[in-house]
Amino acid sequence: MKIAKAVNRLGTEAVYNIFAKTKQLAKEGKPIIDLSLGQSDFKSPKHAVDAAIKALKDGHHGYTLPNGIIECREAVSRKIKNLYRATIDPERIVIMPGGKPTMHYAISFFGEAGAEIIYPDPGFPIYESMINFTGAKAIPYNMTDNKDFSMNPDKILSLINEKTRLLILNNPHNPTGGFTEKNVIDILAKGLKNFPNLVILSDEVYDRLIFDKKEIPTLLNYPDLYERLIVLNGWSKTYAMTGWRLGWGVWPEKLIEHVFKFCVNSHSCVNTPAQYGAIAALEGPEDHLNNMMNEFNKRRKLIVEGLRSLKGVECSMPGGSFFAFPNVKKTGMDGEEFTKACLEKAGVAMIPGTAFGKFATDNVRFNFATSTENISKAIEKIDKIL
Ligand SMILES: Cc1ncc(COP(=O)(O)O)c(C=O)c1O
Repeated sequence: MKIAKAVNRLGTEAVYNIFAKTKQLAKEGKPIIDLSLGQSDFKSPKHAVDAAIKALKDGHHGYTLPNGIIECREAVSRKIKNLYRATIDPERIVIMPGGKPTMHYAISFFGEAGAEIIYPDPGFPIYESMINFTGAKAIPYNMTDNKDFSMNPDKILSLINEKTRLLILNNPHNPTGGFTEKNVIDILAKGLKNFPNLVILSDEVYDRLIFDKKEIPTLLNYPDLYERLIVLNGWSKTYAMTGWRLGWGVWPEKLIEHVFKFCVNSHSCVNTPAQYGAIAALEGPEDHLNNMMNEFNKRRKLIVEGLRSLKGVECSMPGGSFFAFPNVKKTGMDGEEFTKACLEKAGVAMIPGTAFGKFATDNVRFNFATSTENISKAIEKIDKIL
C-alpha cells in the first residue's frame, strides 16, 4: 500500500488521545476528573431536539441541496442581522456538518506548495494540520504575547508577504480563552486594506460565549472585507450541539460555486432533520444560552480562583469560550510534565499547551464547562500532588 504523502502530513487533536487514556484508566478502576474535552456538560435545547424529531416524523428523510435548506440559511441570515446588524444574503451562507469543514475547505482553497498561511499558535490544531496537508507553509503568530491572550495586530500584519494567501483569526480563542476587543480588530481590519489579495478566515465559533456583557467584534461588521472574508460559525458551542454536526460558513460570493462542489464531492448535504433542529435553536428562546452562560461565569471564577491558589500556577481570566490556560512554569514542570503528573497522580485530565502548537510549552488547557464539584475536586487533588 502506498499512501499519498499529503496524508502523512495531516495532524490530529491530542484531545482524542487523552480521551482514550481517561477511558482506559476509568476501566482500570481509576476514576478521572476529565477537564480535557472541548465541549460543555449541557444538553441541547429541548426545542431543537423536538424540532428534529418532528422533522423525522414529518418525513424529512431525503437529501437537501448541498448548501443546506433555504429555511435554515435564511434563519442564519436573520440571526446575523438581529445579533450584529449585518446583512448577509442567504446565498452566501453554507450549512456544514460542523464548524470544522469550513476551515477544511477554506484552507484547501488557498493552500498549495509555495503559498503561505498565517494562523494562531497556540491554536485549534486543525489549522496547522490542514495547512501542512495542502503543502503550504504554515506561519504561526504567537497568542501568548499578551497576558490576556488577545491578538497583537501589528505582529500579525508584519507576517504578511506576497506569498501569503490566507490569514486565520479565532476570537474568542481556543485554547487560551482570550478575547480580542473591537479597538484591536479595528486596527487589524485597517491594516488588512493594504493587502487586497489576502483572504481572511475568521473562526467565530465561540461568538456567543463571551463574558462581562461584551460582544464579539465580528468581522461581519467590516463590509469592506466581504469579497475576501470567510466566517466560520455553528451550533456546537452556543447551543451545546457538538454531536449534531452542524455549522455554517459565510463565504464571498465568488467562492460559493467552489464550496458547492466541495460539498457535492464529500458529504452531499447536512443531515436533513438536524437542519430543522438547527432552525429551532436559532429562532427559539435564549434561556438555555443565558442559563449556560450564567453557569459558565460562576465556573470560570471558581476555576481561576482555584488555579491561582495553587503554588507556582499563574492564570489570567478568560474573556470567552470555556477554557482556562494557566502557566505552570513556576511549579518546576512544563505543560507536558504537569499534564502527566496530574493525570497519573491526581487523576485529573487536561491538555498540554504543546497540543496546540509550539509556543505554549508552559501552559495547560482546562475545560471549565463541567460541574462546580468537579472543578473544586480537581483543584484539591492537584493541590495535594503539588
Ligand atoms: C476554535 C474552534 N473552531 C472550530 C471548532 C469546530 O467546531 P465543530 O465541532 O462544530 O466542528 C472548534 C471545536 O472545538 C473550535 O474550538
